[in-house]
Amino acid sequence: MRIKKGLFITFEGQDGCGKSTIIGQVFKKLNKLYPKKIFVTREPGGTNNPIGEKIREIILNNDSSKMTPITEALLFAASRSQHINDFIKPNLKKNNIVLCDRFIHSSLVYQGYINKIKFKKIFAINKYALCKLWPNLIFLLLVEPKICLKRIDRRWHQKNRFDCKTIKQHENIYKGYLKIAKKYRKNLIIIDAKKSIDENSDLIVKIISKKIKTYDK
Ligand code: TYD
Repeated sequence: MRIKKGLFITFEGQDGCGKSTIIGQVFKKLNKLYPKKIFVTREPGGTNNPIGEKIREIILNNDSSKMTPITEALLFAASRSQHINDFIKPNLKKNNIVLCDRFIHSSLVYQGYINKIKFKKIFAINKYALCKLWPNLIFLLLVEPKICLKRIDRRWHQKNRFDCKTIKQHENIYKGYLKIAKKYRKNLIIIDAKKSIDENSDLIVKIISKKIKTYDK
């Protein structure tokens, strides 16, 4: 089926909720339905965005522990601005579908809820980055914090500054997402991340396909 309008779709959730695996599966399934129309990217940084990737390195680096909360929020927004300009908008203009691992809701939770910067301020900081861009769909993957912690312990990757270490940190992020989900629910869909990757990726593909069809009319 032809896609007549681009769609911007974001995936949010706690560390260890299975976001990256789900995005991979959703990409595979959607790509079969809409070949060459599906693109995957992630924040901070992002595909085709070397400047954003450099900012990512500064933000996530373990040496940046003295970074102030406001500097951090500004850098996430700066990386986002470049990402929107270099990758997201050009793809939307070509009527492609962009699947993005984390976006503004991560800033609301991590810089807002966790670092205690008012949500209004997070939006003010992001205003010039977003330029009114809001995701057409936001999939929020939620799962009990103790399950996330177990999943993270099982995987190996070099730990960055943001990787949660304690159950308390996981619980806070979980609470943050619940709060955001209530407050900023436009286009937001909660996915029970305890279910299998296959079940959830099927469900997400179904929702996206429905959106494409309604957009097509
Ligand atoms: P990453 O290694 O990409 O982890 P994940 O697989 O969990 O997405 O690290 C990204 C980290 O950056 C993640 O812990 C959340 C954080 N983050 C923010 O704090 N604010 C933001 O706006 C974004 C996009 C990410």
